[in-house]
This record gives sequence, C-alpha cells and structure tokens, in this order.
Amino acid sequence: MNIVLLGLPGAGKGTQAARIAENKGLVKINTGDLFRDNIRRETELGLKAKPYYESGGLVPDEITIGMLLSRLDAPDCGSGCLFDGFPRTLAQAKALDTALNSKAVEIDSVVYIEVPEKELIARISGRRSCRRCGAVYHEVTSPPEQVGVCDRCRGELYQREDDKEEVVRNRLLVNQEQLQQLLAYYRKQGKLEIIDGDRDVESVNRDLMQGLERR
Ligand code: AP5
Repeated sequence: MNIVLLGLPGAGKGTQAARIAENKGLVKINTGDLFRDNIRRETELGLKAKPYYESGGLVPDEITIGMLLSRLDAPDCGSGCLFDGFPRTLAQAKALDTALNSKAVEIDSVVYIEVPEKELIARISGRRSCRRCGAVYHEVTSPPEQVGVCDRCRGELYQREDDKEEVVRNRLLVNQEQLQQLLAYYRKQGKLEIIDGDRDVESVNRDLMQGLERR
C-alpha cells in the first residue's frame, strides 16, 4: 500500500504518519526529515537545500524529486510507503506517479488533514522534537514526562530552526499556494480523502485509519 499524507505545516502529518506506519507496517518517508539530516551532515544536497529550508521556502523540485527517487529505490520500500511532506507541488506529484507506475504500483490513498491556520500556528510554536529519534511533542497538548527529554529514547528535545514565527508564516504561504493544485489533482484521480484535523490526536487517527480500511 502507498499512502500520501497532505496538510499544511503543523497539521499533524508527522504525528499521524508515525502511528499509521507502525500500524500498517509501512516505511515512512518524510522529505523534511531527509533535508534536516542532510543539512546536519553538511552533504552537498544539504548545502543546496539549506537556504530554502531556513527561509521556509520550498526546496526546488529538481533537488527534492531526485532525493525522493533515490530513497524510493532503497530495498525497504518494496512493500509500500507512507509519504509525509511529499509531494508538495504538481511536478512532484506527477514524478511520484511515474516512479510508482514504473514499479507496477500506484498511490492507493491520499489523505488531506485539514486544520485552520490559527490552530496551525499554536501547534508549531509549541512543538518540540527529539534530536535523536525524531519523536514529536507539544509543550501543552502532548508534553514529555520530563521537560526537554524524550520519553522514548531520553534524547534532547529542541525547537526546529524553521519554527520561528516569521519563517512559519512563509511556510504557510508557500504551501497554501501549492496545496489547491494538489487537492484538485488527487480529487480527479478519485483518491482524495479529507479528514477534519482540528481535533485531538486520537480522534484524527481513528478517522484516518477508518478511511484507509475503506480503501
Ligand atoms: P517538513 O518537516 O515536512 O515540515 P512541514 O510540512 O512544514 O510540516 P511540519 O513538520 O511542520 O508539521 P506536521 O504536519 O508534520 O505536524 P506535526 O505532526 O509535527 O518540511 C520542512 C521544510 O523542508 C519545508 O519548509 C521545505 O523547506 C522543505 N521540504 C520538505 N518537503 C519538501 C518538498 N516535498 N518539496 C520542497 N521542499 C520541501 O505536529 C505539529 C505539532 O502539533 C506537534 O507539536 C504535535 O505534537 C502537535 N499536534 C499534532 N496533532 C495534533 C492534534 N490533533 N491536536 C493537537 N496538537 C497536535
């Protein structure tokens, strides 16, 4: 099964992706995580992506698509993937279809997690992520047992560089511009499911899982 999660920054894609991937035994591919890892290791790709990432812009398609296609070629992707944060442009969506079709598979379901902008900003400003395992917390709605320490691996929790307010506003703007085209593309393919993401994590997860079961 191949699933795409769509949603504006802070909609809860990463939070839900972790749960779905575990439940369905799918490999989770998050392009934001791949960029953060490359930027941290100062790879050639990371250095190219860094200015776009830090300003909250989209990394150009040729870089992003190239990175995603190499990830898709890894052996662990053979039995299905959960795409979180990809595609974000029409060109990326078409490239993903072509790549999957060449392996005689396709996207089975596209879920858009819809959340109002005011709530997105509240979620992003309180987010804390684990440097070691990537687990995601929120200062208010899902705090760790010990401030600044990951419950799962005891790693350090930090605030992402691109979660500063002015960068967040730009991220929302650029993603909003592309989103409508993506929704239209997948609606036309009959694969789009829209979930009300403005509820607690468990309720959103329940709806999401039910939607996937129907497919
Ligand atoms: P990326 O890391 O993918 O960031 P994003 O899409 O902006 O999404 P976020 O990670 O901010 O939010 P999320 O929806 O995963 O929410 P989360 O679950 O963490 O991308 C970063 C950058 O990389 C981009 O800006 C761009 O530069 C580049 N990039 C990545 N992919 C690209 C692509 N395809 N093309 C070009 N450039 C690309 O939740 C947020 C917070 O809310 C957490 O604190 C969580 O605990 C809390 N929360 C979650 N769900 C709920 C709920 N139901 N109720 C209350 N709180 C909740």
